Amino acid sequence: MDNFDPAQAFYLLATALFILGIKRLGKVKTARSGNQLAGVGMLLAIVVTLVSPGIGIQLDWTMVAIGLAIGASIGALMARRVEMTGMPELVALLNGIGGLASTFVALSEFWGRKYGATITPENVILGPDVWGVAVVLSVLVGTITFTGSLLAMAKLSGKISGNPILLPMRHLLVAGSLLGGLALGYLAAFHQGSFDPAIMILGLTACAAVFGVISVLPIGGADMPVVVSLLNSYSGIAASMAGFVIGNPLLIVAGALVGASGMILTIIMCKAMNRSLGNVLIGGFGGDAPTTGGASATEYESVKSAGAEEAAMILDAATSVIFIPGYGMAVAQAQHVVKELGEELESRDVTVRYGIHPVAGRMPGHMNVLLAESDVPYEQLWELERINGDFKTTDVTVIIGANDVVNPEAIENPQSPIAGMPILNAHESGTVLVIKRSLSPGYAGIKNPLFERDNCYMCFGDGKQFLTEILAELKEN
Ligand code: TAP
Repeated sequence: MDNFDPAQAFYLLATALFILGIKRLGKVKTARSGNQLAGVGMLLAIVVTLVSPGIGIQLDWTMVAIGLAIGASIGALMARRVEMTGMPELVALLNGIGGLASTFVALSEFWGRKYGATITPENVILGPDVWGVAVVLSVLVGTITFTGSLLAMAKLSGKISGNPILLPMRHLLVAGSLLGGLALGYLAAFHQGSFDPAIMILGLTACAAVFGVISVLPIGGADMPVVVSLLNSYSGIAASMAGFVIGNPLLIVAGALVGASGMILTIIMCKAMNRSLGNVLIGGFGGDAPTTGGASATEYESVKSAGAEEAAMILDAATSVIFIPGYGMAVAQAQHVVKELGEELESRDVTVRYGIHPVAGRMPGHMNVLLAESDVPYEQLWELERINGDFKTTDVTVIIGANDVVNPEAIENPQSPIAGMPILNAHESGTVLVIKRSLSPGYAGIKNPLFERDNCYMCFGDGKQFLTEILAELKEN
């Protein structure tokens, strides 16, 4: 017990809270408490690190308090202000800041060791060479995360064009900046006697910054959520490396958790879009709208439309209804009125369910979050695999601002850009009502032949407004 270090025990407790938190995030019902648990773990980690003697430097508590107050206020303000549709941008920004923090930690340790002001000598857990590798990786991955995330944020928020930007000789630039950075990193870690390590490490930082920008430039704005998830994973890897640099086991574990979960999420998103990660990273998708079978993405021949009154009559005669929300529901903020309409139908003995596609919207769990916000019961949210067999026996499917996730091209046309992507089989139900503003394509930029099917009625209008009108019509009857 002589070696018992209370700080390590608290770190273990914080790690357990992170893991439990992530586990609870896996289900909508427990996600809120999972987030809170992980937050408590993070608070514990910060407090223990600050009061732990192992930190090795004299803290100026006034500065710490000011830093905490500024950081906490900005965080709280951003969390309150952010719109649901702006969440991917916020996540991108936070990833970038995480990457920058890891770069700074590694750079300051490196400078401290090289130029005298050693910060944490007693915490060093690696030999000099391996420590050098950890510094190099932390700076490399942290800086790539920072510049790549800022660019992703700018694309997502429309500050720069969301289309792929294809620079001339981009493959050469990508390879040059990465290999150049690695070479400088190698020299900084293993040949410090022959070269000035400070110049090597600054050169490495510059190469990583360039690589972050030019590797994200060619990726289409609509693929950005996948990239954000990948950058999230990178920020975890950078943090883990920074943990090795300063000998902090909690940072190593927390970083590894973020790195692994970000990578798993990236793979899940790629699978649900039927794309390989390599295909997303090579980029070019989501620029000029591709066409299907020579038809323009907005050219339709036989489309039937229905007004709110007609739609209400169709719903009035139904005994089973499935709602399919998509990105347009988020744009229209129609989740509350969808729920009200669902309740109205249920009061008329209609079976109401919601079909949730894993990549509907623009971020993982987008639809679940919105519907949970408007208190739709969890039992009514059915995942794709569970609900897909039931469309054949469903009277009416109401699609609100979804497009790609219900496009039958994915399963019927092997040449389609979305071929192989699993879709919700809305076209199999008795009647399909599609609520959207126009015949414009969705994210994939392609025509949706569902709109021309005999059983389909287009309900043109803003999602929230159209649903409000249907509800009013139903209540009148
Ligand atoms: P989309 O295919 O993007 O279609 C959204 C539709 O919403 C548009 O066609 C648009 O048509 C309509 N819309 C926009 N504003 C509206 C409003 N105010 N009221 C009513 N409708 C409105 O959406 P989806 O079906 O949800 O598919 C998601 C797509 O994003 C997939 O291709 C997926 O691969 C991709 N993606 C998703 C993710 C994640 S993680 N969710 C990540 C990356 C990419 P109008 O303009 O005619 O109204």
